[in-house]
Amino acid sequence: MITRPATAADAAAIKSLIDLYVPAGTLLPRTLTFIAEHAHDFIVAVEDGRVVGCVHLDDYAPSLAEVRSLAVDPKAQGSGIGIALLDALEELARVRGYTTIFAVSNNDVFFRRRGFVERDIPELNRERSEVSRFKGVYAKDLTAARG
Ligand SMILES: CC(C)(COP(=O)(O)OP(=O)(O)OC[C@H]1O[C@@H](n2cnc3c(N)ncnc32)[C@H](O)[C@@H]1OP(=O)(O)O)[C@@H](O)C(=O)NCCC(=O)NCCS
Repeated sequence: MITRPATAADAAAIKSLIDLYVPAGTLLPRTLTFIAEHAHDFIVAVEDGRVVGCVHLDDYAPSLAEVRSLAVDPKAQGSGIGIALLDALEELARVRGYTTIFAVSNNDVFFRRRGFVERDIPELNRERSEVSRFKGVYAKDLTAARG
């Protein structure tokens, strides 16, 4: 399994992964057009030539970015793909100069184990705050460089 920056050609596969988790409200839907136009902000995990995971680094403010659309194919879960995607996303965030990343999620265990802590993000707008009432907001400050 490898992680790599997505391209517009991955848009359909990314959308299929996200759509698996939309009905339960875990992820917000994304259109093919949105994904293709923002492909440079997505990272995919590829196994045997197939996209099995994705994540989106969404610019929120000059130093703040949101982890969105984190999804791993159910058949491929539990083998480190989610962690690899988050690691790659953190690296991309560092390279782009963000100092903090955050996620709005119900998956408390996953984000806490990856060094995120529940935190109030004042920049979150009213619409997001509505969502935040039902999900946790987890933030992680990034060090300038890894290792
Ligand atoms: C969350 C998700 C991306 C994890 O991907 P994955 O490839 O299965 O996870 P990994 O194998 O890389 O990591 C497993 C780790 O996460 C934890 N974990 C993963 N999913 C979990 C869940 N639903 N609840 C609790 N812990 C979970 C495991 O305990 C393990 O932690 P550890 O290695 O520190 O013991 C995947 O389950 C998924 O796509 N879920 C549906 C969408 C979603 O919830 N997205 C995140 C919300 S923004």
